[in-house]
Amino acid sequence: MSTATNQLSSVTVRLADEGDLDDLLALLRDCVSEMQARGLDQWDDVYPGRATLLADIQARTLYLAARDNAPRLLGALTLNQRQDPEYADVAWAITVEPVAVVHRLMVHPSAQRGGLGRFLMRFAEREAHRLGCRAIRLDTMDANTRALALYRTLGYRQAGGVRFRKGAFTCFERQLSEPEAEAPSNAGPEAPS
Ligand SMILES: CC(C)(COP(=O)(O)OP(=O)(O)OC[C@H]1O[C@@H](n2cnc3c(N)ncnc32)[C@H](O)[C@@H]1OP(=O)(O)O)[C@@H](O)C(=O)NCCC(=O)NCCS
Repeated sequence: MSTATNQLSSVTVRLADEGDLDDLLALLRDCVSEMQARGLDQWDDVYPGRATLLADIQARTLYLAARDNAPRLLGALTLNQRQDPEYADVAWAITVEPVAVVHRLMVHPSAQRGGLGRFLMRFAEREAHRLGCRAIRLDTMDANTRALALYRTLGYRQAGGVRFRKGAFTCFERQLSEPEAEAPSNAGPEAPS
């Protein structure tokens, strides 16, 4: 478990369990509505869906962020080692194994631009390192300017492009050395996980 203070006051990150599924689906629904409202078609009714989130939970790979005693979830991501087959054709520069992959990063629209996306990514990096992984890979749609900016800001290297059902996506990578001590700029010191 990981916690932060200040603007992310009393936000906790923890593994999701099956009892969280409905709340996760509500979070996803709100994120997809907001994305579609600004013309971003990366996620839809097909992906990601209930079955994907449930499988993530059952594999103990889905982490959620919530504020203590608040009913609504603030964010979530999945961290595993599953690389889409398309990744095989990307010219990755960081080839240290094993590699962790971040999927389905989402921050509730009401909480966006508050540092939580950055916080969740740094959490994922520490968790991946703790699990023995030495690099992170991920992708986002070329049209997803916010996610592109996030990964670039966090020091991810653009490794190449792939095509998925929805169109063109950019792949990113980052080597993991020692866990990042840094908390997000607008969050205070972080308690050990
Ligand atoms: C992408 C997403 C996770 C970012 O989460 P967030 O909590 O809003 O991001 P943060 O507040 O931590 O911002 C961190 C950095 O991301 C970038 N960023 C985030 N939102 C941005 C926006 N609206 N415009 C431009 N840059 C943005 C900036 O580089 C920002 O750093 P800065 O604040 O120093 O400028 C969030 O917008 C989201 O959930 N979107 C819908 C789902 C999605 O697209 N997921 C990614 C799938 S690959």
